[in-house]
Amino acid sequence: MSDHKKTAAVADSVLKTAALSARALAIAPYSGFRVGAALSTADGKTYEAGNIESSSYSLTLCAERVALFKALSEGERAFETIAIASDTEEFCSPCGACRQVLWDYARDIRVILVNRAGDTREMPLSDLLPHAFDDRMF
Ligand code: THU
Repeated sequence: MSDHKKTAAVADSVLKTAALSARALAIAPYSGFRVGAALSTADGKTYEAGNIESSSYSLTLCAERVALFKALSEGERAFETIAIASDTEEFCSPCGACRQVLWDYARDIRVILVNRAGDTREMPLSDLLPHAFDDRMF
């Protein structure tokens, strides 16, 4: 059988539901903007997180980075997909900092945006961060 279309270790529908639920993990007293992220590993595990804000606003971490750091700190290195859910009608696209860190640790990852209605939009990270800087340059 041809191997060109790999089946996701964690189904997109499962990851989408996990990201929507992960909004409840957000600690966002300053912005009130809750984001949930669910990150799947190549061997089928899922890490979930919400955004965590600081009273010193710029120290805030987005849900995407919290999920990624949670997984990295557990020793995970091979990632497949990240679903990012917002409470809004608009899709919540990852910020520049998250794009860079995802590129550093999971450059082949698929990104699935999920709005509050559960609609999805999928793209590879390379579409979100063209001409990326990374450690191949030094
Ligand atoms: N935020 C995320 O968690 N993910 C994104 O993709 C964009 C923004 C958070 C950061 C902050 O807590 C709040 O949303 C408003 O910017």
